[in-house]
Amino acid sequence: MQIPNLTEAKKRSNQEIFIKTDEYIVKEDLKKLGIGKHYFVKTYGCQMNEHDGENIKAILEDMSFTECETMEEADVILLNTCAIRENAHNKVFGYLGRVKHLKESKPNVIAGICGCMAQEEVVVEEIMKKHKYLDFVFGTHNIHELPMILNHTIETKSQQIQVYSKEGDIIENIPVKRTSQYKAWVNIMYGCDKFCTYCIVPYTRGKQRSRRHEDIIAEVNELKKEGYQEVTLLGQNVNAYGKDLSEDYRMEHLLTDVANTGIARVRFVTSHPWDFTDEMIDVIAAYDNIMPYIHLPLQSGSSRILKLMGRRYTKESYLELAHKIKERIPNCAFTTDIIVGFPGETEADFEETLEVVNELKYDSAFTFIFSPRVGTPAAKMEDDTPLSIKEERLQILNNLVNQHALEANQKYLNKVVPVLLEGISEKNDQLLMGYTDTMKLVNVKADAKWLGKIVNVKITDVKTWSMDGEVVEEI
Ligand code: 5AD
Ligand code: SF4
Repeated sequence: MQIPNLTEAKKRSNQEIFIKTDEYIVKEDLKKLGIGKHYFVKTYGCQMNEHDGENIKAILEDMSFTECETMEEADVILLNTCAIRENAHNKVFGYLGRVKHLKESKPNVIAGICGCMAQEEVVVEEIMKKHKYLDFVFGTHNIHELPMILNHTIETKSQQIQVYSKEGDIIENIPVKRTSQYKAWVNIMYGCDKFCTYCIVPYTRGKQRSRRHEDIIAEVNELKKEGYQEVTLLGQNVNAYGKDLSEDYRMEHLLTDVANTGIARVRFVTSHPWDFTDEMIDVIAAYDNIMPYIHLPLQSGSSRILKLMGRRYTKESYLELAHKIKERIPNCAFTTDIIVGFPGETEADFEETLEVVNELKYDSAFTFIFSPRVGTPAAKMEDDTPLSIKEERLQILNNLVNQHALEANQKYLNKVVPVLLEGISEKNDQLLMGYTDTMKLVNVKADAKWLGKIVNVKITDVKTWSMDGEVVEEI
């Protein structure tokens, strides 16, 4: 039994991080554990979690489990959770009600949770007290131990909790079952050291650890060989890539080397304005296969609130950076994250956020109401703004963001743009769907033979969230 501890999770040690290439092992007898049995993994949250979900699925398949479509068919159920806001928590606890119910009629089903919520002391305490039917819990630092934990759960028939608060080494040999055949997530770093005052991530994901660039490039080369068209380099704060390594090899060098593999499309998320260098902008501008799309979280347009958030930039320096990027990469699409109702946010602070949004006219934005996370400094800040006002601000912000999103999309009407066709459209199964280089979702009238290809698409209609188009030709 190993339960998480917030004080430990907050610490940052200078202990060296090792790269381990043989840490993940499945013993011979465990390789047969899942023969004839099914698993169901439900993932919540960000791309990092999605990618962890791909690792978890591959590990379960290494143990001979087969994936199934619904929780009801499964012998092993795993919820891969997100802790970023209260509503992510509520969704998981809501779903657990269904799991409990299912286990009452099928007691042999094994159910567990993992991911960011599992790293939270308060959550694990609640699970131990109120969710005794859950069979196992593991965290973000020990995914590779899943075979052992699962086996132990079965053998002991007691609740197993195995969550480390301190991050471990980088494990390079965890298998992956990719969701798409055409685009792939590639981790470039783990954890975050920024400690923005509202954010739980530095506690749930540990200190910043960059992967070796040789390993990242080898993975991209392999993906390219397998026919992948697109990679998205993943990290909580990708622009800080390499700062924790001794070599002078940073994000601009990594982007250059990844682009030089010749893979058709390179993306990266998430950027923090603090570490966005001129060299990075130059590299993005220079390479056609680095997509002209930047997600640059603003969080607030008020320098006073940004300071309280611990964001390390001001409204002015953010605007300067954004304009610099727009000048150097003229066709670049811009998206952002914004939090309204941070403790102490006044009407005037909120107006400043609207000013920035009006000036930059984002292609789209993810907008949130501040959600206090236990253990973070912002959760203890005095907050006297009523929820109704915060909801009003969110509505005003969303209306403005949507107006700009539609205006940005309108510029695409009748234009021909490159789209990677990656699947069947959700709104109409006679259509394919894909994304432009600038990350616009397009539903496309196209023959199925174009699936997995980057094609020229003429945009025939635009909406706020998506566009319609038809194939002109393959590029
Ligand atoms: N409350 C509201 N939004 C948050 N985010 C992170 N932490 C919180 C929180 N406590 C938002 C930020 C971040 C995005 C991933 O989630 O905008 O960029
Ligand atoms: Fe959270 Fe800030 Fe790190 Fe992003 S940079 S993960 S918002 S602490």
